[in-house]
Amino acid sequence: MPNQIENRKAEHIKISLKENVQAREICAGFNDIHLIHRALPEIDRDKISLASRVFNHNFSAPILVGAMTGGTRDAAKINSSLAEAVEELGLGMGVGSQRAGIERPELESTYKVVRKKAPEAFLIANIGAPQLVKGYGQREIKRAVEMIEANALAIHLNPLQEAIQPEGEAKYAGVLKQIEKVTDEIDVPVIVKETGAGISAEVAKKLEEAGVQGIDVSGAGGTSWAAVEYYRAEIHKDPFHKRLGSIFWDWGIPTVASLVEVSQSTEVTVITSGGVRTGIDVAKSIVLGSHLASMSTPVLLPATKGSDEVKKTLHFIIEALRNTMFLVGANSVDDLKKAPVVILGDTADWLEKRGFNPRTLARR
Ligand SMILES: Cc1cc2nc3c(=O)[nH]c(=O)nc-3n(C[C@H](O)[C@H](O)[C@H](O)COP(=O)(O)O)c2cc1C
Repeated sequence: MPNQIENRKAEHIKISLKENVQAREICAGFNDIHLIHRALPEIDRDKISLASRVFNHNFSAPILVGAMTGGTRDAAKINSSLAEAVEELGLGMGVGSQRAGIERPELESTYKVVRKKAPEAFLIANIGAPQLVKGYGQREIKRAVEMIEANALAIHLNPLQEAIQPEGEAKYAGVLKQIEKVTDEIDVPVIVKETGAGISAEVAKKLEEAGVQGIDVSGAGGTSWAAVEYYRAEIHKDPFHKRLGSIFWDWGIPTVASLVEVSQSTEVTVITSGGVRTGIDVAKSIVLGSHLASMSTPVLLPATKGSDEVKKTLHFIIEALRNTMFLVGANSVDDLKKAPVVILGDTADWLEKRGFNPRTLARR
C-alpha cells in the first residue's frame, strides 16, 4: 500500500508533467546576462573541450541532472532513464529525497537503480533538512549515501514548500547545527541545495562556516514549488492552500542573482539551477562563477519516455554550450570562466542594491 510520502511524491511528478509549474512573474535572470560575441573566435568548434573537474571528479561537460525522484514505480523508471543517459554522456545526477527509501527498505530499489545504470557517473544522495531536525542522524545519512554509492550528499532546504503544503513541517530551528554535524560525520562532500527559492550571500557564508563544500543555489525563475502545491491544493479541493500557492508562486531570489551572491561571498563549489534551460544558460552560469549547472524539469518528460529521449535533450544542451563557447572564443571551460560579460536590467539593479558591483565582478 502506498503511504502518504509516496502519494505526495507521485503527485509532484504528475503535476510537474501535466501543469505549467514554471515561475510566472519572476525571471531567473539569464536574459540580463550578455556574453560578448566574438566575430573572430580564432578557434575551431570541433576542438573545444567541455571537460570539467569538480569535486575531484571528471565530467565530460559541467552539467548535472537535478534531484527529482525515487520511492515509486514511476520514479524507478525515471531514475533509470536519467542514470543511463548521464552515464553515457559523462555527466552527473542527483536522486530525489531518499526519505521513502530510508523509512521503507522495500523502496530502496527505486533509488539503487541509478548506481546500477551509472557505475561511473557522479551521483548525489539527497535528504531534506527538516529530517535532520526530526532526528535523522549518522545512521540514516550513511544509508542514503550507501544506497546509491553516492559521490556526494545533498541536503535540501525547502522552507517555502514546508510553509505552504498542507502536511508541511515548517520546523527549521536548529537546522544549521545539524548540517554542521553531518559535514563532520560523513566522508563525501556535502552540498546544500535550495529547491527553487535561492540562497543569499548571508546564508551561503553560514553554510560555508558549517563545513558545506558545495551550494546549489536552485533559485527562483524555473520550477516553482508554490505552483506545484497550488495544483495539489486544487486536486484536493483545498482553497486555503491553493491561495497560498498562488501568492507565493514567484517567491524567492532569482537564480542568477543568487549565483553571483554565493560565488562572490564564498569559496564553495557553486552549482546553478532553477530555470537553467539552454546550453547558453549553462555558459552564462559558468562565466558568473558557477562550477556546474543543473536542470530538473527539462529532463522530466523525456525521462518518462526512456533514456534515448533524455540523451537527445542533454546532447542538445551540450552542443548549444559548445556553440556558445565557440562564439566567445573559449577553447575550454577555464577559458569560458574568463569571458567578458555585461549584466543589465533587474539583475544589475539587484546586485548593486545588495552591494555587488556588476561592472567589477571579480573572477575566481
Ligand atoms: C518533480 C520534482 C521533484 C523534485 N524533488 C526534489 C527532491 O526530492 N529533492 C530536492 O532536493 N529537490 C527536488 N526538486 C527540485 C529540483 O532539484 C530543482 O532544485 C528545481 O526543480 C529547480 O530546477 P528546474 O527549474 O530546472 O526544475 C524537485 C523538482 C521537481 C520538478
